[in-house]
Amino acid sequence: MKQFIQQLLTDCLADFRQRGLVPQDFQPRFSVESTRDKKNGDIATNLAMVLCKKLGKKPLEAAELIIASLPKSDRIEKVEVAGPGFINFFMNSDHVGARVYAMSQDPRLGVEKAANPQVVVVDYSSPNVAKEMAVHHIRSTVIGDSVVRVLEFLGHKVIRANHVGDWGTQFGMLIAYLEKMENESASDLEISDLEAFYRQAKVLYDEDEEFATRARGYVVKLQGGDEYCRMMWQKLVRMTMTQNQRIYDRLNVSLKPENVMGESMYNAMLPAIAEDLEKRGMAVTDDGALVVYLDEFRNKDGNPMGVIIRKKDGGFLYTTTDIACARYRVEELHADRVLYFIDSRQHDHLMQAWTIARKAGYVPENVSLEHESFGMMLGKDGRPFKTRSGGTVKLSDLLDEAETRVGALLEARGSDLAGEERERVIHEVAMGAVKYADLSKNRTTDYIFDWDTMLSFDGNTAPYLQYAYTRISSVLRKAETEAGPVRLGCAQEEKLALKLLQFAETVQQVAQRGMPHLLCAYLYELSGLFMSFYEACPVNRGDVEESVRASRLSLCRVTGQTVKTGLSLLGINVLERM
Ligand code: ARG
Repeated sequence: MKQFIQQLLTDCLADFRQRGLVPQDFQPRFSVESTRDKKNGDIATNLAMVLCKKLGKKPLEAAELIIASLPKSDRIEKVEVAGPGFINFFMNSDHVGARVYAMSQDPRLGVEKAANPQVVVVDYSSPNVAKEMAVHHIRSTVIGDSVVRVLEFLGHKVIRANHVGDWGTQFGMLIAYLEKMENESASDLEISDLEAFYRQAKVLYDEDEEFATRARGYVVKLQGGDEYCRMMWQKLVRMTMTQNQRIYDRLNVSLKPENVMGESMYNAMLPAIAEDLEKRGMAVTDDGALVVYLDEFRNKDGNPMGVIIRKKDGGFLYTTTDIACARYRVEELHADRVLYFIDSRQHDHLMQAWTIARKAGYVPENVSLEHESFGMMLGKDGRPFKTRSGGTVKLSDLLDEAETRVGALLEARGSDLAGEERERVIHEVAMGAVKYADLSKNRTTDYIFDWDTMLSFDGNTAPYLQYAYTRISSVLRKAETEAGPVRLGCAQEEKLALKLLQFAETVQQVAQRGMPHLLCAYLYELSGLFMSFYEACPVNRGDVEESVRASRLSLCRVTGQTVKTGLSLLGINVLERM
């Protein structure tokens, strides 16, 4: 509906340009919004206020002129001017009803596939080897995975890229430590506590000179392709990724082992990058290191920022890897668009890498590189999320706690679920709640992790939506007649119907902006409108006329499908009972 009005107004503007009423190159921004109050119609625009100066008219006159030039459409009941010059559109409710009915019979719920599918590389999750997944990895994992699902739903070809931190000088130390541990236990080892393993390795490295020397030797050997070191390194990568995979599976995150494209993958490409940048005159040698100076970025003293490509000792850096990686995604993966779900603190790093990649011609203008940045996860005290003793919170512990809490919650609500079904409900509600808490906030800001809010059955939470879905399911289960054509008889039905028709544009927006919270907000509003509808409009009661019941059943069915599909695009499952 909004899109339809948007199109009418865009056409109107083009018409004005052609008639010379406004300048040829005039491309104003104007709003097209759903109204809150039905007395202002269903959709409103400020176009008249935006145009009036150029038209040399008062806003109200401009509005009349716009209205007069709109084509007649059977979708629109009437158009009115209101307030300082808003144009309000009242949609024809027969038409809205017919569209909702069509939506109820369409498995895609009116969401069209992209006319020009793109290859979209999505860089997300990207934890580090021999480290516990940290909080920023959870955010990246959950938000990135939802955007991946949305893009695929729209028919794009998505390449999941798990840019695992599996390379760097720390591996000398880790290999030396793994070797020591294996020698001591005289067997292959499964590290259950990666965090402790890393910490202990670091202590030894700092304290034991002999160990440190061995570690440094292993770095060189690993980089030189030494077989033993590579085998040890692979073990570390495998152990870490096995643990992470368990978390992905538990969280219903669609990443698979084959999506790992870690930093090490680009290692062999780095010398050529350095050489090429030098040949192009972009990189210069400065005190033994190879450096690109960027005018676009200034350092503390106001001088062009130097980005080190190759260190004095010949080693490469995180930024060099990201330059190679951007190039690879364009040249080898043929990306049209690359989305990076990385926390906001790495913004400058990315901008520098991309500026260099673009200048060197590795990434052409028509390929868009987008930093889908996000803020930090904070504790209730507003400080970075930590355990009581100040350590990193292990993701697996956090998920265990979520399940324990949901179990207690079901108990408190007097749930009669038992056995396997109870386990399943606990699992889905707990994972849903944790994911949704993250997904529902605008990712660009920090967010406060709070158990009580996220597990609440009212408010913008997963349990609320999952519960709303079970209510709808139960109405549908109890129905003894068939759903049928939708006729909108009251304000509650109309509001629900118009909201349903916004599903498609909401999904499109998530794909465009990489922001799943838009979908969360939509589903929350939709469920709220459903609850109001359901209170005002009985469905299965005996005195409800047959055709009215059929229409209401269609509304229930399509709302249920929309909640289910919407949640599945967020990576959250619905339940029939809870
Ligand atoms: N491993 C990095 C970290 O833990 C994130 C990598 C993000 N992706 C990238 N292409 N740099 O911070």
